[in-house]
Order: sequence, then structure tokens, then C-alpha cells
Amino acid sequence: MSKFFVSTPIFYVNDAPHIGHAYTTILADVLSRYHRANGDEVFFLTGLDEHGQKVKQAAEKRGLSPQAHADDLAPRFLNLWKTLDIQYDDFIRTTEPRHKKIVQFVLQQVKENGDIYTDEYEGWYSVAEERFITDTEYGSGQFRDVKKLKEKNYFFKMSKYQQKLIDYIQAHPDFIRPEHRKNEMLGFLRQPLGDLCISRPKARMDWGIEIPFDHDYVTYVWFDALVNYISVPGYGSDDKKFKKWWPADVHLIGKDILTTHCVYWTTMLFSLGLELPKTIFAHGWWLIGETKMSKSLGNVVNPLDLIADYGVDAVRFYLMREMVLGLDANFTLESFIKCYNSDLANDFGNLLNRVSGLIQKNHNGQIPEPGTLTTVEEDIKQQANALPGRVKDLINDYKVQEAVTSVLAFVDVLNKYMEAQAPWKLAKTDMKAANRVLYTAAEGLRIATILLAPVMPEKTAEVLDILGAANTKPVWGQLIPGAVLRAHPALFPRIEVEKA
Ligand code: MSP
Repeated sequence: MSKFFVSTPIFYVNDAPHIGHAYTTILADVLSRYHRANGDEVFFLTGLDEHGQKVKQAAEKRGLSPQAHADDLAPRFLNLWKTLDIQYDDFIRTTEPRHKKIVQFVLQQVKENGDIYTDEYEGWYSVAEERFITDTEYGSGQFRDVKKLKEKNYFFKMSKYQQKLIDYIQAHPDFIRPEHRKNEMLGFLRQPLGDLCISRPKARMDWGIEIPFDHDYVTYVWFDALVNYISVPGYGSDDKKFKKWWPADVHLIGKDILTTHCVYWTTMLFSLGLELPKTIFAHGWWLIGETKMSKSLGNVVNPLDLIADYGVDAVRFYLMREMVLGLDANFTLESFIKCYNSDLANDFGNLLNRVSGLIQKNHNGQIPEPGTLTTVEEDIKQQANALPGRVKDLINDYKVQEAVTSVLAFVDVLNKYMEAQAPWKLAKTDMKAANRVLYTAAEGLRIATILLAPVMPEKTAEVLDILGAANTKPVWGQLIPGAVLRAHPALFPRIEVEKA
């Protein structure tokens, strides 16, 4: 048995959760469920990022304290994760004392290691971006709310670790994935790396974790947020727990927060003398047309609307099936409906309806005896028994989309087998053969269903219940002849496009 520690980014509490946020969290949930099913011990961490200027400003607009504002908004995420069947192991809000204490502990340590210094800095400050921008950036005219600012701040000696980081990335090919993101980071690191300003004077922005060695400053929100990956699994508070879980197996992130994770976070870990996460996996964006889904563009898809219309599992399935991990994907209702109708209604749902319909009609609703398998069934049996290993390998390699399609390919094999054998005809001439075919199709369906369970926990549990096969393993032969099939409505009724 091994352990699997997976994290999502912690989401800005201000943001209304959309499909992009839901995607990362479902992905983490799906990976977690596959690992749990394989007997691994899993720690799945997610949460909310609650400090910083944007939260403060939004709270002020509502006439609330930032904490009250965050408390009011946090349930939007928690409720969505509940609706989406997300089984996280811990949920951190960065305003919790257990996190704040460790951020301060980390700051002390980094300082003791000689990696924090103060400096006076004058430059262009972007209020919207919450950071000083370079002269070139200023010249680009792309930044709103820019003002000249001169202030003393605390800096983290990120530059000190530049070469070490380059060497590390080169020596660990699986550290930054996919490959093109690794190359992007190596390209970025060809330029001299600056140091990182990690404080904000309270006089200007006081919504953050106080710097333990200077009461006039709070911690820069990214330095605070990244620490969640170690504060929750026990760094500085529970050595045994920390030793068990760290390093993380994977930080799942979107491609827009690559630098903060691959450069800020990793150099912070170097300073602390801690191991780096085994993998940082950057997925692409869900696009609407050509543009990223975002609140400011007003083009967000609310997962709750989709769930209300088509059910949780259909949404989870679509997101996992449609996006190749690492690349962008386009969200359209057309592609959602197409994917649903073809994979779930026509293929998976149809196999279930046919198998269970025929067993009800011609076999008194009882799973028939397989009898002696012919080479055709032996081949199917072999494919079924090989599938769990294949899915496991793909999941371990973060190829979720391929894992799902490989199960669907097997469902396709079963549908074609039914078509070729026509057990509805056999039932009139050769009952033994009809029995064999239906057992084989039902048993294949059972194994495919178990392998889709991490993606569609609710519907697959229903299918297994219908087959009288709850809690069975994906190994050929566990479907019990004589077991009575439960009658059921169609689990994946076709979506009529006009209605949608
Ligand atoms: N709070 C920071 C993360 C701190 S982690 C220590 C943050 N939050 S966020 O809410 O803005 O974004 C969280 C994640 O959502 C990012 O990984 C981002 O890539 C992802 N997405 C936001 N919009 C997205 C899409 N349209 N598509 C896919 N994911 C996108 O950044």
C-alpha cells in the first residue's frame, strides 16, 4: 500500500465557483477515488484563499469586515463540492488559526536561514494586480489602477536558489508536467530571477497574516496561500503526520499559476530544507469560444445549472472525458450533449438497458449461468481482466481522459458482441448460448462500471445495485448466477437537442 497526497489550488473566496474551479476539484476527486480503490491511503486537500487586497476591497463594498465577508462566501464552495460528491480529506481556509500560526513559523524559519531582508523600493504599483510592475509592463498600458509607490518591504531571496531550481527541474523529468510547461519554466529561468517581495505595509493593506517580526506588516497573499500545502499536513505542528504525507504526490494547478508554484513555492521549500512535491501538474483552461472563462468577462458556466439539468455524474463525466489533461478544452452545451448522448445514453446506458431488459424478459430477471465459454467469450474475459491494470497505469500517469476512453472502448466491444451474438434470437433456439452471452455481457458491464465509479460515483453505484453486485471487485466471475436483477428506469435517457 502506498500513500497519495493530492492538492488543488486554494480558490479565492471572492470568486463565484465556475466550471474551471470545479474541473480541478473533480479531477483531484477522481484521482483520489481511483487511488483509494487501488488500496492506497489518500490525502486530498483543497480549500480557500481568503487574504489580500481583493477580498478586503470586496468586503468594504459590502460594508462587511473581510472575515465576515469570507465567512459569508465560503459556503458557496463547500456546498458546490458537496453537490459534486467531492470527498476531500481536509478543507483549509487561510484565515484559520492553524494555518496562520504555521505561516508565521515559516517566515521565522526562512528569516533564520538568512533568506529574508528588508529593502526600500520605489516603482509602479498595480492595485488590480496587487504587485509592483516593471517599467516595461507599465509602458504596455495594460495595467489598471497604477500608481507610483515608495516603500520599505521584506524580500525573500528567491534569486539565491535559481541555479538549484534549474538543476532540480532538469534532473526530475516528472516534476513539472506536462513537458511543455516544464520547458516554459526552464525558459523563464533563463532570465535572472529577482527576489520576491513578501510583505505589505499595514498602512496600505492590512488584510493578511502579520509578519511575526514586524507588527507593521502583513504577509503577501501568495506567500501565505502556498504554505497551505504544508500547514495542513502538519508541518511545524505534527511531525508524524507531516512525515507520513510530505512530499505531496501532486499539486494540481491551472496553467496561469505555474510560476507561483514552480518558482515561488519551490524556492520557499528549498529555503526550509524540505523536499519538493513529486509533481506539479498544470492543466489547461476551459474556454468559451476562444477566451478563458472568467468572472470579469461574464462568460462563466455555473456548474449548478448543468447539474440541475443533467445530473452530477454527467457533469463529472463530461469534464473528465473531454479535456486532455494539460491542454485547453472548449466548453459548449452542444459538445456536452453530444458526449452525453453518445457515451452515456447510446453506449453505456444502452448496454445496461439491453442486458437487463433481456434478462428480465427471457431469464426471469435472474443472472444466467455462463456455462462453458467459447473463444469469443474467453477473449472478452481476458480484455476485462486486463482493463483494471491498464486503467491504473493511465491514472498513475495522469492520463485520466485515456483511462475513461479505454473503459468506453471496452463497453463498445461488449455492445458489438451483443449485436453479433443476438441473444434475443438465441433465446428461441439455443438457451444455453443465450445464457452464456448474457452472462458475459453483464459481467463485462459490471467490470466496466466499477472502473467508471471514480468518475460517476452515483450512477455506477446504481448500476452495481441493479446487477446485485455492490462491493464486488473488477475481476472476472464475481457476478452470481441466479442473483435477481432489480428493475430500473433508464439511467441515461437521451437528451433531445431541441428541448436542451
Ligand atoms: N488563490 C489562487 C491559488 C492559490 S494556490 C496556493 C488562485 N485562485 S483562483 O481561484 O483564481 O484560481 C484557482 C484555479 O482555478 C487556478 O488553477 C486556475 O487555473 C483555475 N481556473 C480558473 N479559471 C479556469 C478556467 N476557465 N479553466 C480551468 N481552470 C481555470 O489562483
